[in-house]
Amino acid sequence: MSEPKSDALVFFGATGDLAYKKIFPALQAMVKRGTLNVPVIGVAKANWNLDQLKARARDSLEKHGGGADPQAFGKLAALLSYVDGDYADAATFRQLRQLLGSAQRPAHYLAIPPVLFGSVVQQLEKAECTASGTRVVIEKPFGRDLESARNLNKILLGAFDEDHIFRIDHYLGKRPVHNMTFFRFTNTLLEPCWNRHYVDSVQITMAEDFGIQGRGAFYDQTGTVRDVVQNHLFQVLANLTMEPPVRTDSESVRDEKVKVLRAIPEIKAADLVRGQFRGYLEEQGVAAGSTVETFVALRLAIDNWRWQGVPFFIRAGKSLPVTCTEVIAYLLRPPLLFGSSQPHRDYLRLRISPTNDAAIGVNVMDEAETGVGQAAELLALRTPGLNERDAYERVLTDAMMGDRTLFAREDYVEEAWRIVDPVLKAGTPAYPYAPGTWGPKEAEAVGPPEGWHNPLVAKEASR
Ligand code: BG6
Repeated sequence: MSEPKSDALVFFGATGDLAYKKIFPALQAMVKRGTLNVPVIGVAKANWNLDQLKARARDSLEKHGGGADPQAFGKLAALLSYVDGDYADAATFRQLRQLLGSAQRPAHYLAIPPVLFGSVVQQLEKAECTASGTRVVIEKPFGRDLESARNLNKILLGAFDEDHIFRIDHYLGKRPVHNMTFFRFTNTLLEPCWNRHYVDSVQITMAEDFGIQGRGAFYDQTGTVRDVVQNHLFQVLANLTMEPPVRTDSESVRDEKVKVLRAIPEIKAADLVRGQFRGYLEEQGVAAGSTVETFVALRLAIDNWRWQGVPFFIRAGKSLPVTCTEVIAYLLRPPLLFGSSQPHRDYLRLRISPTNDAAIGVNVMDEAETGVGQAAELLALRTPGLNERDAYERVLTDAMMGDRTLFAREDYVEEAWRIVDPVLKAGTPAYPYAPGTWGPKEAEAVGPPEGWHNPLVAKEASR
């Protein structure tokens, strides 16, 4: 059933970093594609006027949006208005109400720190900006543990129905992440072996060759588990392991994602190793002696019919040797038949960035016919990641259209926190590692017996 389209977009945090890097580029792309033609109202407290916001938008497009397109930017600027005011001040919201005019179903996008959600939602209600049909769009991380996520949900559900709450995880807006379920459920090849009888182990790596890029104050409150594992990488894991949904509507898909998370036991302290790159403590905004992790390696289980006994390994970190997000699922070795050397394990490799790859690893006979097989890879797909439709454009368009498929539901978010909550509180050490390496050596202890798979990234593909 198609939902009514939002008839205005309000974005809080209009002068902030996220708006600068992602939101303005997404808005211009939406105008260009013809999916945005309703009033866009920025809200922030910066003592700015509308012209200053427009100048900031133009600058954002020059730096992060491939340039300001003369036509599309003109149209976006004409749709744009601005409220400069404090989020705790009722006058800010009265002004917003006025600008909303006859809009019946605005989408309020809270691109602001979660501590402000409660008061903004309250003020929106008081100023009558939450009429039925209004949507609210929220940035990740959604809370910082299970309890705070529940509290946030309570605040939001006090003003909006779950169907009108859109919790963003921009990873879901990436085509290669979407392609995981497409690849799985449109090919007969995979399904017969996509289970505990054939899969030996699965690794998910999210490596970034840069540090925290001036985001010390944010990162030091967050750490790698909260920043990318509990959200982005669990979504990747869910796409890889969920059962086929009975239909493709948003709730059928989201039901399957929650089901698979429910089958994951809480991660134990012994199954997770945290690391911190040397130099992190000198970054601006980082507390003296901080033990926040910039690297994590972990193993987990999925205790259900399909996956019981198959280990899943996840690794993510800043200041690693390459920038690449990749999944590799190894299949069990066949019985030994030719010669005495073990063949390589077959595998499925799905790369999310910097290129979008889908590949299958197999053994072929080596040229010298020594009986020792040679590994070969069947590449089903390789497209440059940079040309993919920007993830923010996709999620914002879907939120405005009321399509919830690419957003995290309340029960999903709480399940994801349940899995990491105890280990986040366990106070395990953060082992130092040198920038440009694959993290602390202690990570080997929670890795696969054959060692971690380090993605090979061609120089020209790397950012
Ligand atoms: C963000 C994290 O959510 O995702 C960042 O806060 C991380 O720390 C980023 O670098 C990665 O996203 P992308 O789309 O650049 O791979």
